[in-house]
Amino acid sequence: MSYVSHLDCSRCGAHQAPHQLHNLCPECGSPLLVRYRLEEAGHNFNKTSLLDRPPDMWRYLEVLPVDGEEDIVSLGEGFTPLLRLRRLGSEMGLDGLYLKDESLNPTGSFKARGISAAVSLARKLGARQLCIPTAGNAGGALAAYAARAGLEAHVFMPQDSPSANVVEARMTGAQVELVDGVISDAARLMQEHGKGRGWFDISTLREPYRIEGKKTMGYEVAEQLAWELPDVIFYPTGGGTGLIGMWKAFDEMEEMGWIDSRRPRMVSVQAEGCAPIVDAFEKGLEEAPAWEDPHTISSGLRVPKAIGDFLMLRVLKQSRGRAVAVSDQETVEWMRKVGRKEGTFLCPEGAACFVALSELLEEGWISPQQQVVVFNTGTGLKYIDTLLAFSG
Ligand SMILES: Cc1ncc(COP(=O)(O)O)c(C=O)c1O
Repeated sequence: MSYVSHLDCSRCGAHQAPHQLHNLCPECGSPLLVRYRLEEAGHNFNKTSLLDRPPDMWRYLEVLPVDGEEDIVSLGEGFTPLLRLRRLGSEMGLDGLYLKDESLNPTGSFKARGISAAVSLARKLGARQLCIPTAGNAGGALAAYAARAGLEAHVFMPQDSPSANVVEARMTGAQVELVDGVISDAARLMQEHGKGRGWFDISTLREPYRIEGKKTMGYEVAEQLAWELPDVIFYPTGGGTGLIGMWKAFDEMEEMGWIDSRRPRMVSVQAEGCAPIVDAFEKGLEEAPAWEDPHTISSGLRVPKAIGDFLMLRVLKQSRGRAVAVSDQETVEWMRKVGRKEGTFLCPEGAACFVALSELLEEGWISPQQQVVVFNTGTGLKYIDTLLAFSG
């Protein structure tokens, strides 16, 4: 059983009832977050409960928003490998370097987690037509999970998204609209097209259940490291839901008595051509102004304005973390480096994290004996056309 108690607004705190379709807070227009009766959950759901459960993200069912297994729309998402990178780690002078490899998820990216949760809830609560603006991977994931659930999907993505994202979404039955512009333009067009048609909006953080799927990355890192969180986590952030979700997971686990109060320092990685969070973090702002003319080969990071910017910035501050912008040139170099040393074909967003890691190591912000987890959020296979065209 799930221990959901209610949803509350991440800005004004207003409560909303559970078991209903929601978008933003009706009071102030900010993201809603799901809350659980964690003390009660902690009495019945503990680390040993997990021992005989299947290796997917639904092993944490009690702290996910579905009522029971029959409501779950799954393609086998989650419990991805946490690979120790011994060869690369020894070259970089880091003994405890790990890769959380999200490329093994259905549809090849971490987006499967959030979309699995959102589609499960949407189907259960009566939505029949779903829509999403996407940088690419979330659109592919929504198409697949909507097909699995027997629902209709409308996907709006930039026309220069990796062709794999367009093809996979069409092959799994979505209606795909290609948009001249970036994800925010796709969102605007989606609002226009969807008016009066009863589409349910699955945009990240506008829809409150996607983050619940993504937070399971935090549960998994803890479980895979024997309930000792690492010293530092590197995460590529566009909308930032993965980063915010993991931080939420850490708080939940502490409240259930699974971990202590020690937290990793969180590093948000962005591209030099679209770095609103880095800019805002460096200026000490609480929100990030929209980025003009966003461009990068890391298509998932081409998010000029994130609705959860204030939540991301809050996590970076609370964790005493950092925000780092990296070049596309170095990103591709690190794709090659990590591929040759460890055999994993990273997505550019994941490779960008290694650029940031090497910079912070050189700076002395990370010391050699610290444990570091880098997220590879998707597979490099989706970016073949991007890589062939890249001449930076
Ligand atoms: C591979 C990849 N990594 C990272 C991101 C950024 O994720 P988020 O928008 O949740 O921060 C995306 C988003 O599209 C992505 O596709």
